[in-house]
Amino acid sequence: MSLLITDIGSLVTNDPAHGTGPLGLLSDAAVVVEDGTIAWVGPAAQAPAADEKHSAGGRAVLPGFVDSHAHLVFAGDRTAEFNARMSGQSYTAGGIRTTVAATRAATDAELDANVARFVGEALRQGTTTVECKSGYGLTVADEARALRIAAAHTPETTYLGAHVVAPEYAEDPAGYVDLVTGEMLDACAPHARWVDVFCEQGAFDGDQARAVLTAGAKRGLVPRVHANQLSYGPGVQLAVELGAASADHCTHLTDEDVAALAGSQTVATLLPGAEFSTRAAYPDARRLLDAGATVALSTDCNPGSSFTTSMAFCLAVAVREMGMTPDEAVWAATAGGARALRRTDVGTVTPGARADLLQLDAPSHVHLAYRPGVPLTAAVWRAGVRVV
Ligand code: NIG
Ligand code: FE
Repeated sequence: MSLLITDIGSLVTNDPAHGTGPLGLLSDAAVVVEDGTIAWVGPAAQAPAADEKHSAGGRAVLPGFVDSHAHLVFAGDRTAEFNARMSGQSYTAGGIRTTVAATRAATDAELDANVARFVGEALRQGTTTVECKSGYGLTVADEARALRIAAAHTPETTYLGAHVVAPEYAEDPAGYVDLVTGEMLDACAPHARWVDVFCEQGAFDGDQARAVLTAGAKRGLVPRVHANQLSYGPGVQLAVELGAASADHCTHLTDEDVAALAGSQTVATLLPGAEFSTRAAYPDARRLLDAGATVALSTDCNPGSSFTTSMAFCLAVAVREMGMTPDEAVWAATAGGARALRRTDVGTVTPGARADLLQLDAPSHVHLAYRPGVPLTAAVWRAGVRVV
């Protein structure tokens, strides 16, 4: 069964071979989808026939968003903590333990329903690929359970046993690192693609983070790092040194950190939802882009620091507050996320790619930043199947 999507006023392909600029923008375009894959991209006037036809009515189409950083396996919320922050308190990693207690107390079915709810919420807003971390279990059984549940919803699963030191190990952080790099890793590695660590004061220092990431890498998990979120620190340099797929947050960067990212394949993943919800200063995307680093945008969806599944919201904030142009932000939220997940089949509209498409209720992708807070999702296809 083939599908022709035609009358696309403005198509973002992220493949310069198809159109102008890094977004590979094509106007009056069409796309043919076959067996869940993009089969043809070009001017609507030259489109081949297909079994079915959908008219985009002159509106914009872009690749589905790729959210490469989210924490979706949890129970409860942290409304009180958010309220306190908006009354002047500052964010600390300590709040993570509140969610750990609620998550441990939840049943498998409750956690699964929560992940399904957030993945569905994201999909309805155009997110067709989402990464999902563990990190609110912090026991062998609870971390393995989180990853098993996440893996039922996405192949992009990340072992984050090193989110904070488990409460039981408060007096023995070295013992907890031994657990994370030993028995817990053994139980989690079969369900995970990536290994992550929160490298931060109050969480794990550079040596501990290195131990976690290298142990994970030995088990075939590729590193990614929560780096330089709340303060300057060794996270970014460690990510680059270990060839991590991404360094995430990147809010407090020295010139050396920026240069290291720019000279590497490690993607700088910026998470403006976190600064928004913690009332903190935003990362400087302009500085990273001007240095030549690859930048991705993601939600960081979690109940503590960024309780949003909206890539469009993050994109709009990145344009308004972080020095990105709308084109750069759209690229970062699609192709950038794909780079951060080392995926070539998503984040782009080109023959051979998975047919993940977002049609906006707007004539241009720029409206994602120009019309903040407005639900612009008109249609979504995931692997060629219309889901919205
Ligand atoms: O990415 N920084 C560490 N982890 C999350 C926050 C988790 C939480 O507060 O529950 C983040 O912001
Ligand atoms: Fe995070």
